[in-house]
Amino acid sequence: MMNKKAMESSAEQLIVYPHRDELEIKTYFSEGNSATLYLGDCLDFMQQIPDRSIQLIVTSPPYNLGKEYEKKLDIEDYVLQQRQVIDECVRILKDEGSICWEVGNYVDNGEIIPLDILLYDCFRSNGLTLRNRIVWHFGHGLHCSKRFSGRYETILWFTKSDDYVFNLDAIRIPQKYPKKKHFKGPNVGKYSCNPNGKNPSDVWDIPNVKSNHVEKTCHPCQFPVALVQRLVLALSNDQDLVFDPFLGVSSTAVAGMINNRRVAGSEIIQKYYDIACERVKLAYEGRLKFRPDKPIYEPKDNLPLARNIFISENEERI
Ligand SMILES: C[S@@+](CC[C@H](N)C(=O)[O-])C[C@H]1O[C@@H](n2cnc3c(N)ncnc32)[C@H](O)[C@@H]1O
Repeated sequence: MMNKKAMESSAEQLIVYPHRDELEIKTYFSEGNSATLYLGDCLDFMQQIPDRSIQLIVTSPPYNLGKEYEKKLDIEDYVLQQRQVIDECVRILKDEGSICWEVGNYVDNGEIIPLDILLYDCFRSNGLTLRNRIVWHFGHGLHCSKRFSGRYETILWFTKSDDYVFNLDAIRIPQKYPKKKHFKGPNVGKYSCNPNGKNPSDVWDIPNVKSNHVEKTCHPCQFPVALVQRLVLALSNDQDLVFDPFLGVSSTAVAGMINNRRVAGSEIIQKYYDIACERVKLAYEGRLKFRPDKPIYEPKDNLPLARNIFISENEERI
């Protein structure tokens, strides 16, 4: 488990607020709470949440891989279980709200089964509309010997209606040539691109949380705060409620908290729940370290071979 000092030290990014009292994390849901974190099953927790009260749901559910926090089920039973959670998420979602379901592959006897394909119908049959299938690309992971190594997962972004929140200006990223101007024609001299940056597209390059990532805790499957932050900024407004049914160590709640949203989530495992509470408190106080949403570092020297050998020797292989 990561201790409090380690979480605070050598911050990648710190937001320092004027003095704030310690955040009181509530365990019973009420819309006015700044943070409600529930230790237990997400279906039990969602019973406390009224219809149409959540603006944004971002989550990464268990992938049915038999990790320490899940029991591997027949895939049909897994989908049924997910369907129950998704039905409840749709019930508590506001009409202008969004659901983002982040998943990878279920692997069975060497066959990969993309979970977003299996789960798509659970959303569609609830009348939701798919707005993007975002590909999250990352650089590190297991090295496969019988297929290409997997280096992406996907986020299915659904909305409940056509009248949904989408704040594009909040998530623009720098252009390759940011000050490019028209050099001829009626607009000569004017910017040929948006000077505030471009739409980040539906392929996102954000490092995954591996051993020396600044956000790493003892959780085996954390997603990065920067990934959620884009969704929070684009799909919700100040003080809106952001919810994660499968909270883990609260990367979703942290992204919400540092962007002035109210947050809620549920987690069944005590040790992850404790870290989740600690991280949300530190985020509220502006003392949690996290990797901001910034371009990936590309080494410019010409010595990639030696570096790559060193990295792969230290990675797990399958
Ligand atoms: C893939 S992890 C999510 C990690 C999270 N995105 C983060 O960055 O920390 C899924 C989490 O869901 C929790 N979980 C599994 N079943 C649950 C349930 N029925 N209710 C609440 N949490 C559950 C697991 O213990 C695990 O921590």
